[in-house]
Amino acid sequence: MPATSMEELVSLCKRRGFIFQGSEIYGGLQGFYDYGPLGVELKNNIKAAWWRSNVYERDDMEGLDASIIMHRQVLRHSGHEATFSDPMIDNKKNNKRYRLDHLVKDQKADVIAKVAAAMGESAENFPAVVAALNANPAQASQALKDAGVRDPFSGEVGDWTEPKPFNMMFKTTIGPVADDESYGYLRPETAQGIFTNFKNVVDSTSRRLPFGIAQIGKAFRNEITPRNFIFRVRELEQMEIEFFCTPGTDEEWHEHWLEKRLSWWEAQGVPRSKIEILDVPKEDLAHYSKRTYDLMYDYPTLGHEEIEGIANRSDYDLGSHTKNQSELGLVANVEENLDSIAKLTIPHPETNKPVVPFVIEPSAGVDRALLAVLSEAFTKETLENGNERIVLKLRPHLAPIKVAVIPLARNKAELVDLARSIKSDLQKLGLGRILLEDSGNIGKAYRRHDEVGTPYCVTVDFDTVGKGDDATLTGTVTVRDRDTLAQERVKISELTAYLQAKLK
Ligand code: GAP
Repeated sequence: MPATSMEELVSLCKRRGFIFQGSEIYGGLQGFYDYGPLGVELKNNIKAAWWRSNVYERDDMEGLDASIIMHRQVLRHSGHEATFSDPMIDNKKNNKRYRLDHLVKDQKADVIAKVAAAMGESAENFPAVVAALNANPAQASQALKDAGVRDPFSGEVGDWTEPKPFNMMFKTTIGPVADDESYGYLRPETAQGIFTNFKNVVDSTSRRLPFGIAQIGKAFRNEITPRNFIFRVRELEQMEIEFFCTPGTDEEWHEHWLEKRLSWWEAQGVPRSKIEILDVPKEDLAHYSKRTYDLMYDYPTLGHEEIEGIANRSDYDLGSHTKNQSELGLVANVEENLDSIAKLTIPHPETNKPVVPFVIEPSAGVDRALLAVLSEAFTKETLENGNERIVLKLRPHLAPIKVAVIPLARNKAELVDLARSIKSDLQKLGLGRILLEDSGNIGKAYRRHDEVGTPYCVTVDFDTVGKGDDATLTGTVTVRDRDTLAQERVKISELTAYLQAKLK
C-alpha cells in the first residue's frame, strides 16, 4: 500500500533525514527545502537513473550543463518576460496575497459554483472559470466578493482586489553596476540553456536530425503560493530533454516520448495505473506549445497533479531566438540568408537545406519525482507478531543506502573491525552508499533501515568470528532481506558476489 497521506511522507522525511525546511533555524523560507543525508542520495539516484536511460542507453542524445543565470535577452526572446506569469490577487483586509486559481479551487463547491455562474461559465470547466476571471479583472473582483470567497489565512470573506499577472522569474544583478543593462534572470526552466547551446552542440558533435540534448539542473520560480511540501517550490530541479526533429515528424516523436517516459516511470516504481495522461486543452497550453501531454500522478492527499510535461514546442524557441537575434542586429536578414548564416538551423536530412527543427520536450521535476517515488515505496505492514512496521520498498537502484553492515555489539572491536572491512570491500563494488551501522541495537537498526529503504542488512555476530555457539557458522554473516524479512547465512568470501547479483 503506497502512502495514504502527505503528512505521513513529510513526517518520514523529517524524521529520517530526507528533507528539511530551508533556512529552518531562522524560521524557514517558504518554498525552499534542503535535502538531508538520505534525500541527497535518493535524489542523485533518481537523476542517475534518468541520465542512464535517456543519455547512455540511447544513441541519439547528448548531455549539457548550462549556467543558471541567463542573459535577460534570452528570457525576453523566449517569451518568458512577457508571459511567464501567474494571476495574483490580494485581500485588502489583511494584505495577504494568493494565486487566483489556487484561491478559488480551494473554496467550497457552492462558492466555486457561484463564482463560475457570475463569470458565465460552468463550474465543471474550472480552467474556463479561471480564464474568465483573468480576462475580466473588475468583474472578477466583484464576483469573488459576492460569492463569499474566503481568505484561507483568516477564514473570513475577503475584500478582493482585481487579479493581475505576476511574473515568476527571479531577477538578479550581475557585477557591481546595478543599472538597467546589468541584470539577468535565474532560469525558470533549464530548457533555454539547451536552445542557446544548440549550435555549439551541433558543431562540436556533428549531430544530424533527429537527436536530443538532455540536461538536469536547478530552475527558479517565484511561486505566489508555494505549497504542498516539495510539490510546489521556488527552487526546483528539472530533468529536461529537448529532442530536435524534422518538421513533420514531430507528432510521431511526441508519441514516442510519451511511451518512453511512461515506461521510465514504471521502472522507478511509479506504475502507469497511477498516471493519467492529460492532453492539455488548447486554451491552457504554454505560450510555446503546439500540443502538450501532462502526466498527472495520483499524489497522496493532492490527487492527480502534474509530475511531467511532454510538450511539442514546434520551432518556437529556436525560431524565436534566431528571429530576435536578427532584430537585435546580430544576424541580418535571417529569411534571405538562411543558408549562409545558418544560425540556429541544421541541415534537413533529405534536402540538406538549413531548417529550424521542431522540438519535443519531456520535462520532469526531480522534486516531484522524489515525492512520487517515496509515496509508492511507502508501505505499512502488520507483522506476524502483530507489530506494525513502516518499510520503504524502493527499487534497489534508488535506495539511498544499498547495504547496512551491522556489528552485533558496538563495543567488541573484533566485530566492528570485521564489519568495517566488509563495508569497505562492498563499497568498492560501486553500487552506491554502503553504511557501517554501529549504533549497537540490532532491532532499532533493522527498523531504521526498513524505514529508509535499505534493501539488505548484513550482520556480523559472534558466530561470524568463531565465538558463538555454532562453529559451522564461522566466516559467515547474516543477510536480511528488507522486503521478505528472510535471513540467510552467507560466507564472507561469497558476500560481494551475492549482493552484487541481488542489487543489480
Ligand atoms: N521546460 C518546460 C517546463 O518547464 P513546466 O510544466 O513548467 O514545463 C516541468 O515544468 C516540470 O517541472 C513539471 O512537470 C514539474 O514536475 C516541475 N515543476 C514545475 N514547477 C515546479 C515547482 N514550482 N515546484 C516543483 N516542481 C515544479
